[in-house]
Amino acid sequence: MPLLDVENLTVSLFQDGTETPLVRNISYRAEPGEILALVGESGSGKSVSSLAVMGLLAKSLRVTSGAIRFDGQDLLTLKDEEMRTLRGRDISMVFQEPMTSLNPVRSIGSQIMESIEENLGLSRAQARLRAIDLLKEVGVADAERRLKQYPHHFSGGMRQRVMIAIALAADPKLIIADEPTTALDVTIQAQILDLMARICRDHGTTMILITHNLSIVARYARRVNVMYGGRIVESGDARTLYTTPRHPYTEGLLQSVPRLDQDRNVPLKPIQGSPADPFAPIEGCRFHPRCPYATDLCRSDVPEFGDGLACHAPLSIETREAV
Ligand SMILES: Nc1ncnc2c1ncn2[C@@H]1O[C@H](COP(=O)(O)OP(=O)(O)OP(=O)(O)O)[C@@H](O)[C@H]1O
Ligand SMILES: [Mg+2]
Repeated sequence: MPLLDVENLTVSLFQDGTETPLVRNISYRAEPGEILALVGESGSGKSVSSLAVMGLLAKSLRVTSGAIRFDGQDLLTLKDEEMRTLRGRDISMVFQEPMTSLNPVRSIGSQIMESIEENLGLSRAQARLRAIDLLKEVGVADAERRLKQYPHHFSGGMRQRVMIAIALAADPKLIIADEPTTALDVTIQAQILDLMARICRDHGTTMILITHNLSIVARYARRVNVMYGGRIVESGDARTLYTTPRHPYTEGLLQSVPRLDQDRNVPLKPIQGSPADPFAPIEGCRFHPRCPYATDLCRSDVPEFGDGLACHAPLSIETREAV
């Protein structure tokens, strides 16, 4: 049984009497212990779909259809209280910018310990020992002294390690890491991702890794969902997607970031045009205005998702070589 099973999920924004879908009918599964990546440009719906799983959608957003099953339980039917318990204990999230998630006027120790006390019901003294273990596990040296310090005493990378320690406090089954490293420089990014991958391996934790950068993904994730305009447009094995993308958008994402397996002199090629705007009416495939391969069919009909792809004009070996 998959640990997380998202089926036909649609999330819409309700504003000024209108309903605008931000996430459109997406389905995916995460198996126990796997790292699944969610990739796409800004605004593609990565955070909104993940916040729906967490039960943390903003007030103006609502799940309008679909199911989210975690360990066989439909999360959309849970009461707020039940969802809160689940969030502390079984599912946790690491956010993009640790400075906004940590309280600047409270010590790191009290913030980690609070999460442990709340979710595990441990005493203060036990929570302190667990906090020290957690900090050591995420690579914060001199943990006992560090507990007394405040967020501003920590570098960006160290703060992100603290956030990971808090997410790990209750040894959750699922961690959603929403661009956990975008605010960090490249070397630190790799250290943090290596750390998270090791933790998942050691604890059998499932991770959904959200990122803009498809080149990072192949190194950490087994499978990838590529999102565009609120939909999953391609999904599959990470290495296959990396070497032979079928959706022109996936190819575009790959050409826009430096690749580890390519000469550094290969120029980067950003995808033309701007990311999909949920408020703009677009007929057919939402990517067609930016797609170099678009046909009349792409301009008129929305491609159905099937066999890991939603595209009327997928890349074949011949088209790939012609470009
Ligand atoms: N609370 C909200 N109210 C209104 N619109 C929202 C809200 N949250 C998200 N959106 C819109 O929904 C769309 C999807 O946003 P989302 O945050 O999921 O993107 P993302 O893929 O996480 O992008 P990024 O990489 O920038 O984090 C965007 O167009 C965004 O502007
Ligand atoms: Mg986001």
